[in-house]
Amino acid sequence: MADLIDITREGRVALVRLNRPAQLNALNLALAEELVAATEALDRDRTIGAMVLTGSPKAFAAGADIAEMAGKSAEEMVEADFFAIWDRFAACRIPKIAAVNGYALGGGCEVVMMCDFAIAGEGARFGQPEVKLGVIAGMGGTQRMTRLIGRSLAMDLHLTGRTMRADEALRAGLVARVVPDEEVVPTAMAAAAEIASYSRGAVRLAREAVAKAEELPLAEGIRYERAVFHRLFGTPDQREGMAAFVEKRPARFHAP
Ligand code: HXC
Repeated sequence: MADLIDITREGRVALVRLNRPAQLNALNLALAEELVAATEALDRDRTIGAMVLTGSPKAFAAGADIAEMAGKSAEEMVEADFFAIWDRFAACRIPKIAAVNGYALGGGCEVVMMCDFAIAGEGARFGQPEVKLGVIAGMGGTQRMTRLIGRSLAMDLHLTGRTMRADEALRAGLVARVVPDEEVVPTAMAAAAEIASYSRGAVRLAREAVAKAEELPLAEGIRYERAVFHRLFGTPDQREGMAAFVEKRPARFHAP
């Protein structure tokens, strides 16, 4: 069977492409297992500093694989803890940029929200249409989307199942940037290369601190940020980054 994902490396960046184009990259368990194993390996790989996750021109991913789920019973879903595998993808600390062309629906939209940020093409379409199938989002969509774009729009999308265009997704804060379709992957790769050129420790702690804002009360989050900020002053990369600025030269981070 053909690989369900395809990985290429450019310098310190990995480009991971979902590779079930005929099924619009529907996310079956085999694909999830391959993607999670690959992402965990990239997470441990010190020669890689960031990854871009993309799909095909027509679809980033049109959701969880409906054919695979259709016949399952509630007992089977509970027993398998269906979709729990995706928690491992979200937990990977490697910076993950979603490069979205075409449909990002249901689980596809939820995977976009598991990434650290998204760059979308003008033709991208986002939505949570599970209600049309008689179910609800099952990979974190009701929770992550509400935190990202607010209750009102999240309710609209989850209750009507409508799709949202890229410009609306940008206004809502679901994606960070919208670019012409053909520039999505190059733009995401350039952003990933920039991230990968910085101190590995600082980048990982920055993404962790931003992510804490979704979990912690403000005062606690600010204390967390300050503790991390103080701790970074014990690192060679802080010395190098600040010395390079003062000496007006590019920084050479020890642990990029
Ligand atoms: C399995 C899928 C699929 C999916 C598309 N395909 N989406 N297979 N699971 N989620 C398959 C189609 O069956 C078809 O296969 C091929 O991909 C091309 O799709 P078409 O429908 O022919 O394409 P088009 O007419 O262009 O329509 C595109 C589309 C539509 C609007 C994106 O495919 C669609 O609505 N897909 C389902 C979107 C969805 O409901 N996603 C949420 C899933 S539930 P064949 O073999 O016929 O060529 C989910 C979370 C579940 O993600 C949580 C619950 C627990």
